[in-house]
Amino acid sequence: MILLANSEAWPGFADSVALLKQGAHGLDAMVAGIGKVERETSVRSVGYGGWPNMLGRMEFDAAVMDGTTRDVGAVGALPDILPACAVAQQVMQRLPHVMLTGEGAKRFAIETGFSPEETLLDDSKRIWWERLEKELGADAARFPDVPLIPLSTTITDPERVRDTTVFLCRDSQRGIHSATSTSGWAWKYPGRLGDSPIAGAGFYADSRYGAAACTHTGEMTVRCSTSRSIVLAMKLGHSLEDAVALAVEELSELSTGFLAGVVIHAIDAHGDHRVVNFRCQGDIKYWLWEPSMSQPELRTALRA
Ligand code: GLY
Repeated sequence: MILLANSEAWPGFADSVALLKQGAHGLDAMVAGIGKVERETSVRSVGYGGWPNMLGRMEFDAAVMDGTTRDVGAVGALPDILPACAVAQQVMQRLPHVMLTGEGAKRFAIETGFSPEETLLDDSKRIWWERLEKELGADAARFPDVPLIPLSTTITDPERVRDTTVFLCRDSQRGIHSATSTSGWAWKYPGRLGDSPIAGAGFYADSRYGAAACTHTGEMTVRCSTSRSIVLAMKLGHSLEDAVALAVEELSELSTGFLAGVVIHAIDAHGDHRVVNFRCQGDIKYWLWEPSMSQPELRTALRA
């Protein structure tokens, strides 16, 4: 068994470990852990602690992938409903679709027993408006009847959050699975989807070979299909290390569009893992648990 997650996973990582130890299906274990992350208001990129879009509305992206069946469930730009990752799991289990977005995703969530609520915290609302007001200048009085495109530079500041929570595991049944959740980039354009709900970009899992999931700049991993590339490379015989290096090479070949950092998290079917920081500032940490460990360990990602 193995459980790997990014640093934001701390509120729920131990819960997922406990469930894996009890023999739970990996997806159930990770969705339970992510639910805790989504409820923790001090995690500023996921769930209640996340930041809103440019109009001050929370829009959540989340997904699960069962690596044994390659079934996927995802929600994108989901308003007013948490926990988003649990809704994604319901999409996988109850619909012939893999992804729902926006109002359709909200409708489905309500139909399956989730309750709509205000998910924007007062403190987040205050900071959202303070920063936006500065960008708007004299146009602030007319907001929201202003063009939003010029404001999109607001989200390109590296200080603004574009993190996610990603979990990968190999469970007691040797199933390799992935789960993700995020509020997406702070001050994103309404309707923007990141990589976290996009199979192949923000996550991919195949119990025969391994799994990968990415945090930070989703626009880049969508363009490179980063997570699928890693798992496909392992299928074609590359080692985990080489597969991740190949994905990093593809990211580094991008020369146009919005370019910034990406963190790749990956595991293989031998129980090995690799976490690589491509152009993110500072040390990037991640959580790891294997049965030989008495406690989960917080480790530092390798630099690409
Ligand atoms: N990787 C998170 C996002 O781009 O929304």
